[in-house]
Amino acid sequence: MRLLKMKGWCIAFSFTSLSIALASCGAGHHSQPDTIYMPDMVYSPAFKAQQEGAMRMPVKGTIPRNFTPYAYAKDPEAAGRELKNPFHRTAKVFARGQALFNTYCIVCHGPAGEGDGTIVPKFPRPPSLQSDKVRTWPDGRIYHVISMGQNLMPSYASQIDVSDRWAIIHYVRALQRSKHPTPEDLKVAAAAAKQ
Ligand code: HEC
Repeated sequence: MRLLKMKGWCIAFSFTSLSIALASCGAGHHSQPDTIYMPDMVYSPAFKAQQEGAMRMPVKGTIPRNFTPYAYAKDPEAAGRELKNPFHRTAKVFARGQALFNTYCIVCHGPAGEGDGTIVPKFPRPPSLQSDKVRTWPDGRIYHVISMGQNLMPSYASQIDVSDRWAIIHYVRALQRSKHPTPEDLKVAAAAAKQ
């Protein structure tokens, strides 16, 4: 399958080993799906088979089932308006989001999302996820960035499935509230810590 057309260079992350490799990005398939990021993969599977029964079904229309194309590729604002987080912020979802954030996002965005990940400044410092801008973004707007990427940030659609993206967003919200926790936030965090 060496039919790749070079479209320039992208940074690809191998999150299992936390090593970073430069890899060419192009359309098509290749032999190392775990280590190479594919920008064209904005089509996402719905739930993993074993999650289908295990997790609450989402509100109709919020999550494409099977391989429905992502409908908001060109309209981040509509994604923000229309896509709703289908999960409640349970301790389980929170813990999942935390683990995923620490796998996929922390390297650039830092432990509290302030843009101080370990890769900075080799990779340009991302804007803070604690900004007024991102704090006031609806969940669907953050979902859009994870799904599509944004400028230097690559899409994570091929690596993080739909339900996991929403779990990460819950965790980002918790990070944002961490400076001014509500009583409810404290309860959730305490429950997660006991797990
Ligand atoms: C390779 C480094 C990198 C990784 C990994 C990464 N990001 Fe980003 N992220 C960036 C950069 C750089 C930007 C700014 C892009 C731009 O200039 O518009 C950004 C922007 C964002 C924004 C928009 C912020 C704004 O003010 O416009 C959000 C939200 C975001 N990232 C969330 C995440 C989440 C959640 C993850 C994990 C799933 C993640 N990012 C993983 C580098 C990264």
